[in-house]
Amino acid sequence: MEKPKLTIDEMATFCKRKGFVYPDSEIYGGISGFYDFGHLGVELKNNIKQEWWKTFVQQRDDIVGIDGSIITHPMIWKASGHIGGFTDVLVNCKKCGARFRADTLVEEKLKIPTAGMTIEGLTAEIKEHKFRCQKCGGELGDVKKFNLMFTTQVGPIQNTSIAYLRPETAQVIFANFKLVQENARLKLPFGIAQIGKAFRNEISPRDFLFRMREFEQMEIEYFVHPEKQEECLFIDEVLDYELNVYSAEMQKNNKKIEKMPIKKTLEKKIIKTQWHAYWLAVMHKWFVSLGANAEHFRIRQHVKDELSHYALDTWDLEYEFPFGWKELQGLSNRTDFDLKQHIEHSKTDLSIFDEETKKKILPHVICEPSQGVERAFLVFMFDSYTYDKSRGNVVLKLHPKLAPVKVGVFPLVSNKADLVKKARDVYDELKKEWTCVFDLSGSIGRRYSRQDEVGTPVCITADFQTLEDNTVTVRDRDTTEQIRVKIKELNDILRKFLDGEKLIKLGKVVK
Ligand code: GAP
Repeated sequence: MEKPKLTIDEMATFCKRKGFVYPDSEIYGGISGFYDFGHLGVELKNNIKQEWWKTFVQQRDDIVGIDGSIITHPMIWKASGHIGGFTDVLVNCKKCGARFRADTLVEEKLKIPTAGMTIEGLTAEIKEHKFRCQKCGGELGDVKKFNLMFTTQVGPIQNTSIAYLRPETAQVIFANFKLVQENARLKLPFGIAQIGKAFRNEISPRDFLFRMREFEQMEIEYFVHPEKQEECLFIDEVLDYELNVYSAEMQKNNKKIEKMPIKKTLEKKIIKTQWHAYWLAVMHKWFVSLGANAEHFRIRQHVKDELSHYALDTWDLEYEFPFGWKELQGLSNRTDFDLKQHIEHSKTDLSIFDEETKKKILPHVICEPSQGVERAFLVFMFDSYTYDKSRGNVVLKLHPKLAPVKVGVFPLVSNKADLVKKARDVYDELKKEWTCVFDLSGSIGRRYSRQDEVGTPVCITADFQTLEDNTVTVRDRDTTEQIRVKIKELNDILRKFLDGEKLIKLGKVVK
């Protein structure tokens, strides 16, 4: 089994060919930074969101979810600092007017990290190395800041009621903080989570789903008592968990990434708080539990000048994409910055009553794990994509919980009416519980490979023996091993297999 290194463009082609993702509005020439999810992509994306929600909201006592508005009162974005400072660095071509992201340009040309570089520093690099326009070869101007928020208007009067499409889901959590805390009767420490769309007018969207203009985020704001920021209640669960660590100090001194247990990151004060370490480990664990390769991840601390305006400390969970190590998820210590800002701008008291000290307190967001759904989608696609030489086809080894289709059902041959009916009956029964496909076209081998390529973990075939004894064969995508089982036991067997049991333990092995 070979694990080819696909480029991001090859992954985009694969996703389009198999019905996962399409460039948006392609019949009109497309629109940069926007994508549509096809019949399989929507299932995979929903499964990712559902698994995240199950793990971080439904299965925890300390986190509840909300689903907020995309367009909100514009004051939210003034208070949060987005109107003033949610910018990227832009450089214009003086001749043709083309616009480029200045930091990416310098990074790619000079092969140096630009995190924390000022606009003056970037302009100096561009001038010194005489970088030219990538479209027409013209001279480039000075680097400027560009606000990434999309504007729209609310109501019928033009140019008066400007509003913004939210650039992150986080602020809607802060604006609802008090209501959620009171109504859900949350006691510190607790979290509020949200999954939803975010919009950023990226200067140069690129790398397929990696940098888009419309995408989805899965975010948690985790609040702690301002005087109890040190101790994490769950730290024992992750102390021995190992991560590849790349701290700001290691970056500054050109040191190598080091694999170490969480315990060591805390003892050596590499990660400052237990809570931050806990969330980094837990998020990494989530990816690995759903089939991602642990070695393709590292945690990287933001260097001083790279920190966002709201962050005291930020670590990114990074993934080794084909175009290099890149941010997969940002985990920031946002302190009480956002709640304070909203108190000041809304003139509303957002502090909560502390039963212990009988005082009003303002909680701190000790960690905000913020994950892009589409970047997670890419990780699961890259880590599951394999090419099987002996089968002569791609096998997408998606974790069964994520697989868009759980079961393929076929008759062995499609020209025998009673066999087709028997297979159809099995399919009609199973689809009440599982996402299934029924396929009649082509040889049975072709139908298996069609399902291998889109990650369907099991295929069930009704054959001539089925007509005699009501048994079918069940085939494992990854091993191609088959067992024979009674139709009436299928649901039970599928449940066990999709929960991680080995298929050959669940029935009579077919030689
Ligand atoms: N609330 C904090 C926040 O939004 P961020 O680092 O700007 O922080 C968090 O974004 C995550 O959202 C990123 O780690 C990434 O997974 C995803 N993300 C951000 N911009 C994106 C874009 N243009 N396209 C796709 N995903 C993006």
